Amino acid sequence: MIHTLTKIDDAVLKEIEAEKQVRKTNELFLLFPLGSQFDHLILQKVEKLGVYCLVADPARITAADVQKLNPKGIILSGGPASVYEEKVHFDTAILDLGIPTFGICLGFQLWAQHVGAEVKGAKKREFGVHTFKTHIESPLFTAIPELSAVLESHGDIVSAHEKLTILGSTENTPIAAAMHKHLFGVQFHPEVSDSLFGEKLFENFIFEFARAQDRYPAQSMAEKKVHQLAEEIKNKNVLLALSGGSDSSVVAYLLKKAQELVDTKLFAVYIKGIDRPDDEKCVLQFFGDKPWLSVKIIDATDAFVTALAGKVTMKDKRIAMRGIYKNILEEEAKRCEAHFIAQGTLYTDVSESGGGYDTGTRKAQIKIHHNVDLGFSVPELAPLIDCVKDNARNIGREVGVPEELVTRHPFPGPGLVVRIEGEITKEKLRIARDADNIYIEELYRAGLYQSIWQAGAVVTQSVTTCTKGDEAVSGAVIALWAVWSVNGFTAQCAELPYDFLKKVSKRMTNEIREVGAVVYRLSDKPPTTIEWG
Ligand code: XMP
Repeated sequence: MIHTLTKIDDAVLKEIEAEKQVRKTNELFLLFPLGSQFDHLILQKVEKLGVYCLVADPARITAADVQKLNPKGIILSGGPASVYEEKVHFDTAILDLGIPTFGICLGFQLWAQHVGAEVKGAKKREFGVHTFKTHIESPLFTAIPELSAVLESHGDIVSAHEKLTILGSTENTPIAAAMHKHLFGVQFHPEVSDSLFGEKLFENFIFEFARAQDRYPAQSMAEKKVHQLAEEIKNKNVLLALSGGSDSSVVAYLLKKAQELVDTKLFAVYIKGIDRPDDEKCVLQFFGDKPWLSVKIIDATDAFVTALAGKVTMKDKRIAMRGIYKNILEEEAKRCEAHFIAQGTLYTDVSESGGGYDTGTRKAQIKIHHNVDLGFSVPELAPLIDCVKDNARNIGREVGVPEELVTRHPFPGPGLVVRIEGEITKEKLRIARDADNIYIEELYRAGLYQSIWQAGAVVTQSVTTCTKGDEAVSGAVIALWAVWSVNGFTAQCAELPYDFLKKVSKRMTNEIREVGAVVYRLSDKPPTTIEWG
């Protein structure tokens, strides 16, 4: 779990004062996460502006606590609750303290309801990128054009009320931004990169609305992480789960840097069986013969296929996959006498698994990630747990991870399991691998690989009637997807050239005996997630 303020006592106040001295500021902001998938992105945006911001547990920090902290401003995140159906665990007396407050989505609905406005289910729900139009001039919209792209993900809306000054709207949301005295709120998500002027909106809230004065220069996250790791792993053995994706590779390099400071033995394991066709090659190429790391490849195909037999829902398959993954890591940890197991887990994984900041508010579980809460018998090292993909990549660059590895498409934790519908068999794994091979090879050939954030080929359960060599046969339908994204929290369907897609389809239907047709997925995240399963 990530550090969260759960109580305010003398010791906590002393710690905060000491941190203020370091940052040469008297100003503090508080973020109350109300269960949003994007809560951590808010913190990142605010920290990037050089502002000291602490995460406060909405279920435990009261108005009296907030008064003791005397923050310059408060931010309330979104969340999965509907205020008219479910009590949000948050002391609404905080809203009466006169402290400048920025409510995002649910956070906006919460204060709007508190001042008397009705919040209700929208006739037309809004997911994805929409156009936001500002209605009146306001310091909150300084340097933001009248029309701008924003990401929305909501089913509820705030109704008009005499106390609300309406600041802007989107097509289906007449009140997409409003204020009342010290309370400001938006229905969209300025914290995600799809909201083009989101960062500016935070800046305007902090420096124009809340009138903050101080900015603290950005620090090197990589350096901090290396020193923390060095302290932890001194004279200890570490086993790292390497996947061939960029996150675990970044962790490998962070450990390498820490090893330059202290005595430690580093081991890594690559688990083979449900992996993409080129992952093992990548691990061997970049880590196979390094004096600082001893890498072992374990072929667990049979164990995976046996555990996955008879499992058809994605949830059951994810749970079965996790079990094998955990057992192998445990066995290897014993063999290497490891004191720690290290993984490249990101905040995104934790957040989608329903975790993150330790608060009393409800957070939806989107999917169970293979690498979260495994409960190993030795402590876990997850130095990227407070990062999302773009920070993890930047940290990687700082510690010398080769660019080819940094920009490799993310490894899907449960591997091809989430790219195969229905029961997993060795035959379906082979089809998924062959399809991936063609797709990725063609992306490279067309010079498209680097411009795409991630791409996948899914073996669906749909079949199509087709004719191969004058025989009528049933062929599997392969669904291709490719996305543009910044950090994986949101993503847009990549507009791949039609000629390219035709070529991939032709190769797949010709070269893979079982494939009958190829389709392309057009949906964005939200609402669709990036991986199929
Ligand atoms: P989703 O599909 O949740 O994925 O939008 C976001 C990114 O995380 C990668 N990834 C995983 N996805 N289960 C997943 O569904 C996992 O355990 C996992 N680990 C990593 C995924 O490939 C995408 O880039």
